[in-house]
Amino acid sequence: MEYNTPQIVTFDKIGSSQLGYITIAETQKNVPFEIQRVYWTYYTPHDVTRGGHAHKELQQMIFAVSGTIIFNTEDENGKKETFTLDHPTKGLYIPKLVWRDIQFSHNAVLLCLASEIYNEEDYFRDYEEFKKTTDKK
Ligand code: TYD
Repeated sequence: MEYNTPQIVTFDKIGSSQLGYITIAETQKNVPFEIQRVYWTYYTPHDVTRGGHAHKELQQMIFAVSGTIIFNTEDENGKKETFTLDHPTKGLYIPKLVWRDIQFSHNAVLLCLASEIYNEEDYFRDYEEFKKTTDKK
């Protein structure tokens, strides 16, 4: 698998409907970077759009461990896509330089595995600045 574009990765699950399930994410096995940081978001109102940024270097693997999360993405070549996370086995891999807007169902919990520690300098928070930088490439 080539990890240079945004894509859904389906993770294995172990268990049964009687006992419940477990899904595992491991560096280099099914996550293509060293995990340096983990964060989660919750209680996002349905009518709020989060995201609105791109990263200069950060790679992420993102899960909806509960609920449904919709990502509208635009990559560095201007390619726009929509990805829906609606099952705990689905991860969305996001490489660097992908603009994203995110919407949540009321019960959604987003879990993010990130390749770098938090650094505000790594963000494009201005869409025009993101477009100007990627257009030059
Ligand atoms: P932001 O990345 O803008 O969140 P979202 O894309 O979900 O809207 O981050 C929201 C706030 O949290 C912002 O003030 C920065 C802060 N933050 C940290 O301090 N550390 C982190 O690892 C992250 C992801 C955010």
